[in-house]
Amino acid sequence: MMFIGPLMIEHRLIERMIQVMKVLLADIETAKRVDPVQVDKIIHFIRSYADRCHHGKEEEILFRALSGKPLSPEDRRITAELVEDHKLGRKITASLLEANERYKRGDTVALSAIADGFRSLVEFYPRHIEKEDKHFFMPVMGYFSPEEKEAMIREGYEADSRLLQEEFAEVVKSLERGK
Ligand SMILES: [Fe+2]
Ligand SMILES: [Fe+2]
Repeated sequence: MMFIGPLMIEHRLIERMIQVMKVLLADIETAKRVDPVQVDKIIHFIRSYADRCHHGKEEEILFRALSGKPLSPEDRRITAELVEDHKLGRKITASLLEANERYKRGDTVALSAIADGFRSLVEFYPRHIEKEDKHFFMPVMGYFSPEEKEAMIREGYEADSRLLQEEFAEVVKSLERGK
């Protein structure tokens, strides 16, 4: 298994969540309402899995390792673009979260902001994933030796297990705070 194998498998799960969002978006348009708990579940997935776990491994392991390599201008350009994409993804998710909080407080106008957030994510993720799967992951693997690739795989697994511990420590902490 190459380092990019698990990243590509994670892309497939994110794509399934994108399909869930598309269905929810259609429901919002017909019913003119949404279940904020459902929205929270999706936000949790995007923040914890797609961003913290998946983008986290891309940025802290792959992009970081690439920063020490003599990248071609094209690979350098795509890397910088992917970093910006991740920032945009975070921004969209933050506004979706904010809109959902307003909606929970009874602000029905926030429904259109929730729909906008989903529309943006549904548009954003497939484009971003395609860029990585088809134009980035394979070419950049050429910069690494077999040993470096092995080390990245190990780092990826360590990052996953660390996140799992952190995630549940946060669950306990938030319950201790009474949230
Ligand atoms: Fe990415
Ligand atoms: Fe990715």
